[in-house]
Amino acid sequence: MVTFKEKALTFFGVKRKRQKNISLAANGNIPLPFHINIELTTACNYSCQYCAVTASSYRASKIKKAEAFKIIDDLAAMAYSAGVIQLSGHGESTILPWFEELIIHIRQKMPHISLCFHTNGSYLDKLAKTIVEQKVNNISISVDGGNSEVFDKIRGKGSFEQLVNGLTLLHQYKMEQNVGKPHLCFVATLMKTNIFELDKIIELAHRFNVNQVITQPLTPYLELGTEAFTLSSLDQQERARAYDAVSQAKQLAETKGIELQILNEDPFNEPETEWNLAIEKQEREAENQTNDTDNARSTNGAEHSAASKTENETGGTASSTSNTQENPTSSSIANKQYRLCSDPWKIMYINAKGGFDTCCFRHDDVTETLKDYSLNEIWYNSVGLNKVRNDLRQGHLDEVCAGCTVRTASDHPPEIPETWTQ
Ligand SMILES: C[S@@+](CC[C@H](N)C(=O)[O-])C[C@H]1O[C@@H](n2cnc3c(N)ncnc32)[C@H](O)[C@@H]1O
Ligand code: SF4
Repeated sequence: MVTFKEKALTFFGVKRKRQKNISLAANGNIPLPFHINIELTTACNYSCQYCAVTASSYRASKIKKAEAFKIIDDLAAMAYSAGVIQLSGHGESTILPWFEELIIHIRQKMPHISLCFHTNGSYLDKLAKTIVEQKVNNISISVDGGNSEVFDKIRGKGSFEQLVNGLTLLHQYKMEQNVGKPHLCFVATLMKTNIFELDKIIELAHRFNVNQVITQPLTPYLELGTEAFTLSSLDQQERARAYDAVSQAKQLAETKGIELQILNEDPFNEPETEWNLAIEKQEREAENQTNDTDNARSTNGAEHSAASKTENETGGTASSTSNTQENPTSSSIANKQYRLCSDPWKIMYINAKGGFDTCCFRHDDVTETLKDYSLNEIWYNSVGLNKVRNDLRQGHLDEVCAGCTVRTASDHPPEIPETWTQ
């Protein structure tokens, strides 16, 4: 058993315990992360048609208020000041009654941090004033339709009106204060239901001075039957129409001065259902392992959180944290040994269970949690996280990394700088 809790060291002002049997040298340099993603909750006030949250087997978790505030205090103590803090994950962070307080706390502790979050837009009207006053830098808003008909069908009745109210108030406060922040970005998950709506989404962006629209592919979930929503399920004729719709939307975006980014380059390059099954398989295996370890631990009388045994989150979000790397096409994935992915060195994903994810698709590599270890310890010494880093460096890709549709396949490993500047 690895004695992860040996001697306490002080590192960046945070208590750090020495870990045995792990060779950090094998991983080369591990920079301080640039991007901290904190998933405050996996619960949501919406039940979107295609989202894992809607599945009956879904169990939500949330970070306790005190834990969330401590994460911020620990980051501030690490002298973490030059990067990005993003509050987002599987659920809807803005539903937490202390969300606004947390925004204010982050600004107090780290005045220069770039503060961002991802939202379904349902609470933007209530939060608009604080968002503008606290100089939130970026908000990604899920916008899957440009009118209530399509939007409400996907996200629920009244959701479009709620979004428009929020956008209106945000715009109003920005005008009153004469500020450009927050920068807004619309994120559309493309599927059969909305591929022919892309132009309307662009029009909506234009109406609210939003100059960036990103589209991402749908990750199908068998339990929700959402493979039937994928673009790949369109027939030949509709497929040709869909390509036309995308190129028209590109032209429209250009004339309106809006950056339209197709995250997977070709909208028809969608993740396979089998790929998602590979993720689910990994999650089940990790859960079984956790349960085995838990049983052993409880026999030994060691502490254990009962909650983690009962929580069974399905799947991962296809939403990807912004990254400058380019995206692969289906043909480029074949026969490439490496993937140009720097996420495990660049982005610290803290999940709603107080654990760490490796990226938005890999949820079970890191077994250490913030209950037992500091942020520093996990970032530098987690066995699972370091294994994925090594595998990426050596081109030993498992099913999940090998099937990833958002990071470029390559003949050489990713290059990791000593320090991130962006
Ligand atoms: C899980 S949501 C969480 C944030 C917030 N609740 C929202 O809807 O924006 C993050 C992003 O994942 C997207 N998403 C959810 N389920 C997805 C799926 N099956 N495939 C692709 N994207 C998905 C959402 O549309 C959203 O843009
Ligand atoms: S996509 Fe977002 S808003 Fe919709 S159910 Fe999932 S977490 Fe909630």
